[in-house]
Amino acid sequence: MSQGSKPPTAPPSISNSLSFDELRNAIQEIATDTNGDNEYQNFLDFIEDLPNMRPNEIFDKLGSHGYVAQNEARRALSLMAYRHVQRICRIYLDNIPASELPAKSNMLLIGPTGSGKTYITELLFRHILKLPTVLVDITTYSETGYVGQDVMSILTRLLFASEGNLPLAEVGVVCLDEFDKIASGQNNAVFAGAGTTKDISGLGVQRELLKLLESAELTVPTEFSHSSYQQHVLMSTRNIPFIACGAFSGFKLITQLYNQQPSIGFHNENKEQLNHDIAVSFRQDEVDQTRHFQQYGFLPELIARFDRIVPFKALDEEALSSILKRNLISAYEREFELEGFNLMIDESLLKHLVKEAIRRETGARGLRATLSRYLEEAAFETFSSPDASNVRVSWEQGRLHVDKS
Ligand SMILES: Nc1ncnc2c1ncn2[C@@H]1O[C@H](COP(=O)(O)OP(=O)(O)O)[C@@H](O)[C@H]1O
Ligand SMILES: [Mg+2]
Repeated sequence: MSQGSKPPTAPPSISNSLSFDELRNAIQEIATDTNGDNEYQNFLDFIEDLPNMRPNEIFDKLGSHGYVAQNEARRALSLMAYRHVQRICRIYLDNIPASELPAKSNMLLIGPTGSGKTYITELLFRHILKLPTVLVDITTYSETGYVGQDVMSILTRLLFASEGNLPLAEVGVVCLDEFDKIASGQNNAVFAGAGTTKDISGLGVQRELLKLLESAELTVPTEFSHSSYQQHVLMSTRNIPFIACGAFSGFKLITQLYNQQPSIGFHNENKEQLNHDIAVSFRQDEVDQTRHFQQYGFLPELIARFDRIVPFKALDEEALSSILKRNLISAYEREFELEGFNLMIDESLLKHLVKEAIRRETGARGLRATLSRYLEEAAFETFSSPDASNVRVSWEQGRLHVDKS
């Protein structure tokens, strides 16, 4: 993004009172002068080239990439992405001190499986903004010194995603997927039977994450190894937005229990009538209560690091059907066309696929797998004996029909 031409900056004089940033800039300038390493210039060029989009344009761009529904969450994330880009441009191109700007934002996305939490994060930051983005399954991490990856190595990944460019890594984005699975008291399958004394309650990982999410300067290994001789760099998370995603199944139950009349209480059979579903939608007021997360098994101070908790809704029939039509079917139609056939997928099959997804509470996840399983039969028959030109696939009387003509 171009924010007007930048006046040439005078080389900073090195004194004892330099701040962390000033010191780093000084070192960078010396590095540039002495060995021609223009890491910092490359970083500035990168920032200048960031797409210049307004929040509503980002919102629309998500739509044109095939993202459907979740309008409220989409607005919140589009605005957050816009602010992130503005913030880094102001700091690095316009030289406005970070202390004069609003702090970076961490977000917690909560909602049912397959509702597009991970997808929107990747689409937005990696594909649309083209920022260094890492997506980690947080359940594979552990407290420092135990079996499993060290939480700090998440930042090593970000360095890799930035091709080793440290300032670039420091404005990248981290997505912590399956965040709900590190709630304390939950089983952590990765470590089951590993014979360690690891705190499998998840609290250890939560404490490590707290360090990351705080705007801190951290010592980050530059390689993925367990050697104590490995190199480290000092990395700041001050401008790194963290996006945590999780389905939080059972969370609704906690919010409902809290909202019950005192006379009904926690141990009443009425509990049975409460909502046990997975594919439930969350309301803003339900996710804004830190004590609900505490009850779920999270350190309140970790939840407090997320300045915005964004609820995602279960995708309805209309949304699922539109994902099928816009994003999934066309690829198959194209493949059949290249093989010389006209593929017609009947509305009855689409309806069936959507119903199945809703029944299994898997949202849009698995739509592709189920569709390809159904089309397998049609593809095998058609591609084996190319004696027809039209293939119609439908769902009638509880089974799949393939008609060729
Ligand atoms: N709102 C959506 N619009 C378009 N596709 C979606 C949407 N939600 C989910 N999908 C599809 O379903 C897949 C799984 O979604 P994902 O984001 O991984 O779900 P989760 O909410 O469990 O993280 C995505 O890769 C995408 O293809
Ligand atoms: Mg996900």
